[in-house]
This record gives sequence, structure tokens and C-alpha cells, in this order.
Amino acid sequence: MLRQYVIGNWKMHGSVGQIRSVVRELLRAGLGTNVALCVPYPYIALTKSLLMEAESALQLGAQDVCEYHIGAYTGEVSAAMLADVGCEMVIVGHSERRRYFGESSETAARKVRAALDGGLFPVYCVGETLEQRQSGIARDIIAEELQVLAGVPTSLYAVAYEPSWAVGTGVVATPEQIAEMHAFIKGTLDARTRVLYGGSVKGDNAGQVLAVDGVDGVLVGGAALSAAEFLDICREAR
Ligand code: PGA
Repeated sequence: MLRQYVIGNWKMHGSVGQIRSVVRELLRAGLGTNVALCVPYPYIALTKSLLMEAESALQLGAQDVCEYHIGAYTGEVSAAMLADVGCEMVIVGHSERRRYFGESSETAARKVRAALDGGLFPVYCVGETLEQRQSGIARDIIAEELQVLAGVPTSLYAVAYEPSWAVGTGVVATPEQIAEMHAFIKGTLDARTRVLYGGSVKGDNAGQVLAVDGVDGVLVGGAALSAAEFLDICREAR
């Protein structure tokens, strides 16, 4: 079995100083290829140079990518550019992109395709809101979001199940909720699909989350900003 992934999503946090200090601390721990950091665009090159200096196996990623390949798209960043500066992966369709920037599954589908064409490994996020869960349509929402991946070979991507009521809220889905939704996602796509859980994963609950059947890793937001906390999570990966 592949080692469980631990992917840190810095979101719109950080500075040159913070990146340097956190990445250096992570590097001292000698993490493997199952661990990745998705930092804001301006810090990708800096992070890459820190990783190269230390000959680290840690993977580097971005948090979004343009759906177009090249051209007059002011403010956008292409998959080829991300690969060029050393990214191996990219988060696509995060709930914050859907909620605050109106990103639809159609856009996310084009971004997944652009990422694959650019040689990046997309980590595609799906998840329901609390309202959708309470009205019993969580599976329908996830099934609709998963259509983005139709026809894409399973080995080329990972899915992150991130219920939006658990993202940044301090509320973690229960082991039963996680197991049920991961089984549903694998059942819908392919049993071999790598499915990560995300939503308020911290050092003190990562062990429990990573022990759940069908969990192939975690996508970590807030807790990735602290090297100590992130390392605690990495130590729980099997
Ligand atoms: P969180 O974010 O760990 O801060 O809840 C997770 C994510 O958005 O990927």
C-alpha cells in the first residue's frame, strides 16, 4: 500500500520569513514524498529553492491553476508555469474557491484537464455544506462534483473529501461519516482512487482520522502553518 498522503494547504497565509522558518523546521525532520506543501503562488519558487538546498523529497504544490493553457488572461497562472517552477501537484475545486469565487464544477473540470496536460497531479476537492447534509442530499452533491473526473485514469489524481462544515471550523467529521463518504467516493469512481480527508485535521485528531478505513491521507489547512503541529500529523501517516 502507498504511504498515506499529508498535504498542507497554506491558503492565503504566510510571508517570506514564515515560509523560511516553517519549511526549514520541516526539512530538519526529513519528510518523504508522501508529504506536500501547497503554498501561495509568490512563495512557490522560494519553497522550491529551500527544498532543493536540502535535497528534500517533500512535494510542492499550488492551491489553484488557470483553466487555460496560455494567453491573455491577466492575473492567472498556468499549469505549465507551475510545473516550470517545480510544482508537482495542484489543489482544484477547493470549497473556498467554489464559495468565494463562484467556481463551478464545469470550471473545475477544465482546471483538472489543464493540470493533467501540464503534468501536474490534481487533488480535486469535493464536499457538502451542512444544509445539504441535513437535507439528505450530501451524496447527490458529491456524485455531481465527481463527474468532473469522468474518464480520467485513477492513478493520475487524488480526491479530497472536505465537507465545508468541517473546513476551518474546528469541527471534524466523525470516523463513521468519513468512512461512509470515502466508501461512496471509491464506489462511484474506482476502488483504487486515493481519497484524502480534509477539515479541521490537527495534531491531536490526525491519528483517529488516518486510522479510518478508506482514508488515504489528509489535506490540512490551519494546522499546516505550524511546523510542530504539521509534523505531529505527518507522524500519524501509515
Ligand atoms: P482546515 O482546512 O484544516 O483549516 O479545516 C482544510 C482545507 O481547507 O483544506
